[in-house]
Amino acid sequence: MTRAPARIAGTRGARAAVLAAGLALLLTACGNNMADQPKLQALEASPYFPGGGALPPVGDTVSREVGAIDPVFFTGQQGGALATELPIELSVELLQRGQERYDIYCAVCHGYTGAGDGMIVTRGFPAPTSFHAERLLAQPVGYFFNAATNGFGRMYGYASRIPPEDRWAISAYVKALQLSQNATQDDVPAAILHEILGTEGRAR
Ligand code: HEC
Repeated sequence: MTRAPARIAGTRGARAAVLAAGLALLLTACGNNMADQPKLQALEASPYFPGGGALPPVGDTVSREVGAIDPVFFTGQQGGALATELPIELSVELLQRGQERYDIYCAVCHGYTGAGDGMIVTRGFPAPTSFHAERLLAQPVGYFFNAATNGFGRMYGYASRIPPEDRWAISAYVKALQLSQNATQDDVPAAILHEILGTEGRAR
């Protein structure tokens, strides 16, 4: 009776010793050989080139960082300031594309006229400020591109879902929406105004 526990302890001790030996063997096998491979790593000193260091990138190398090629087009900003002008050509087609994309992606919350009364808002989602509020009328086109790209407060960004060209088209359309809701007769070209007002000179 008295020997049994001792034997168990002895077996345990032997097991532990074998385990420790195995571990020691494993650890000694882990030298630095795997880490120090006979290959060159990026920017590592090298005896191949004069100076022993990495060479500067070849001429015309283009960074793959977002916005490195055309910061205004990709970020809506330049030098920390929001773009005040469209980096792509403004055309009726661009505004029509912007309207189509706005109606798909933005109108559900911002409303078809930008008043902040979209369907989702009428069902309880927080209402965004109307695009026709003075603070937003004063914002440059880059402001809308920036919000569509990076999100704004509770609104998530659309960079992964809407390509930059379309985000610009939408931003241009929002500026057009602002104009449409805040225009005076003087903003309408004379020929069109004549057509609207008719010969009597008042709205039909
Ligand atoms: C799911 C609803 C929703 C959708 C869709 C949505 N927005 Fe918003 N947006 C909001 C809300 C809510 C705010 C205000 C967020 C806050 O203040 O926290 C906001 C804020 C903004 C602002 C800033 C307004 C300010 O007060 O300065 C801009 C600009 C804007 N959105 C543009 C867009 C554009 C462009 C699209 C489409 C690409 C879009 N939003 C799609 C809900 C939405």
